[in-house]
Amino acid sequence: MSSTATEIAASEHSEAPDFGRLRADFPTLNQRVNGHPLCYLDNAATTQKPESVISAVANYYRKNNANVHRGVHTLSERATADYEGAREKLRQFIGAESTREIVFTRGTTEAINLVAQAYLRPLVSSGDEVLITGLEHHSNIVPWQMVCEQTGASLKVAALDENGEVRLDEFHRLLSDKTRFVAVSHVSNALGTVNPVGEMIEAAKTRGVPILLDGAQALPHMHVDVRDLDCDFYALSSHKMFGPTGIGALYGKASLLEAMPPYQGGGDMISMVSFEETRYNDLPYKFEAGTPNIAGAIGLGAAIDYLNAIGMTQILNHEKAMVAAALDGLSTIPGLRLIGRPRERAGAISFVIDGIHPHDIGTIVDADGVAIRTGHHCAMPVMQHFGLPATARASFAFYNNEADIERLLRALEHCRNVFA
Ligand code: ALA
Repeated sequence: MSSTATEIAASEHSEAPDFGRLRADFPTLNQRVNGHPLCYLDNAATTQKPESVISAVANYYRKNNANVHRGVHTLSERATADYEGAREKLRQFIGAESTREIVFTRGTTEAINLVAQAYLRPLVSSGDEVLITGLEHHSNIVPWQMVCEQTGASLKVAALDENGEVRLDEFHRLLSDKTRFVAVSHVSNALGTVNPVGEMIEAAKTRGVPILLDGAQALPHMHVDVRDLDCDFYALSSHKMFGPTGIGALYGKASLLEAMPPYQGGGDMISMVSFEETRYNDLPYKFEAGTPNIAGAIGLGAAIDYLNAIGMTQILNHEKAMVAAALDGLSTIPGLRLIGRPRERAGAISFVIDGIHPHDIGTIVDADGVAIRTGHHCAMPVMQHFGLPATARASFAFYNNEADIERLLRALEHCRNVFA
């Protein structure tokens, strides 16, 4: 782990960490882009990686590269220990009861598709309903639409209000005797809205309906405990939480995962194969066909170590203050309209500026070294709800600071001047 995060760990989180110093742990942040120091505000798309994550991945390839669960030789044992060690780190990080409940996947998208195909598809038919919300990323819409197409079930959508919050009256109304599954985002990638997932989970539980949370945008910003939440499934992506791309996980309650058929067939997911019969492996390996992303899992483990060294409560408090300051600053820019004004927000702020297309905003601020995302943010229905083709979105991580907010505001002023 980097020296800065270790020093912060040593201080036992007793006082607020010096978040400014943590930037030094992130090599990508320490560069000039278009002649300016990089101001990276596209963390909802992907986060930057600390040196400790980069080293963990490189170290695996440099020293321990071997397949997992297959060899008795030393390198394979080391690789297996590190890969399974990462699973245990993730189990602790999200408060799961057992590593049997942690399935490594390519990311949130694959985790949701796994549940859609292996859990829901065999259970539903015409007349059954799947409930989602109007706030979802495409990865928490399309897999359920596919199951509905395949089975004749119907997709129900709890609409948003003008603030970009899910209308809970609609959510409760649509949760009926026909509902077989509920899938909601913990935090919206497009607007930053934090859903009242406690209430949603309780409502689903009351009706005995399983519920999945898309946690991709929550885990980088807040402490999550899947047992406290009592959700049935929780999907996550490593690259949104300072780890490598191409790796993520599905948390699922063991009783549900056990009852599910495998998602994909191949090596490692079996205990015995013959041409007459195949018996499947135990959890979680039943869902991990083929050689996994070993380096990615190890990198995710290193990212979790890094986050633990800072402390998720410290991160949440720091980011709350930063996002509030950014909202204050943005409200002073003439013609700027916030899209979504949720009561609880994490990470992301979406906005438009009168008379300037969001893509032009993104291009002009990039010339000033400020990286934001513009477009539909893989959430076209959210854009449709607000009658917009696209927004500009600034999204924050703990390594951002007031100077980044200043840089964003100055770049947006510049943008307005270009179009004046
Ligand atoms: N889901 C990612 C985003 O929100 C790609 O930008």
